[in-house]
Amino acid sequence: MKTLRILVLHGPNLNLLGTREPGHYGNMTLADINRQLIEVGDSLGAEIVSFQSNHEGEIVDRIQQAGGSSNDIGNIDGIVINPAAYTHTSIAIRDALLASRIPFVEVHLSNIHRREEFRHRSMLADAAAGVLAGFGPQSYALALRGLTEILRNPLS
Ligand code: DQA
Repeated sequence: MKTLRILVLHGPNLNLLGTREPGHYGNMTLADINRQLIEVGDSLGAEIVSFQSNHEGEIVDRIQQAGGSSNDIGNIDGIVINPAAYTHTSIAIRDALLASRIPFVEVHLSNIHRREEFRHRSMLADAAAGVLAGFGPQSYALALRGLTEILRNPLS
């Protein structure tokens, strides 16, 4: 079985997980989530590369590099992305994902459809292979499972 390389991207303010609005986002820190994803990845034959940034352009750069051949960040087979607030605004991140042609799953800890109206709109969702929202930190692990499944057994 080929080892898949999965890039996990975390957008702005997700570095504050653990203390930030635990009612919406739970108590796990970003480091806890990344550690758990490495374990889940091991069981699925997937290598996890994770990256967090508070800056839109840095996220765009990282997506562009994902399609390249660098051993550190390139050769990425799939992307799990929680774009955080950029979900609702960023055409730049959408364009970068489309240009990369790398399948991606959009993730949210909270159920964005139960929250303020401005969070209901995603600039990415219609281009995603799937969307996971509302399961707290487990949204990431579920997204990783779904993404590896789709990469190994495409729907069409
Ligand atoms: C979020 C939801 C976004 O609306 C919010 O701006 C975030 C986190 C989530 O994981 O639930 O920062 O993406």
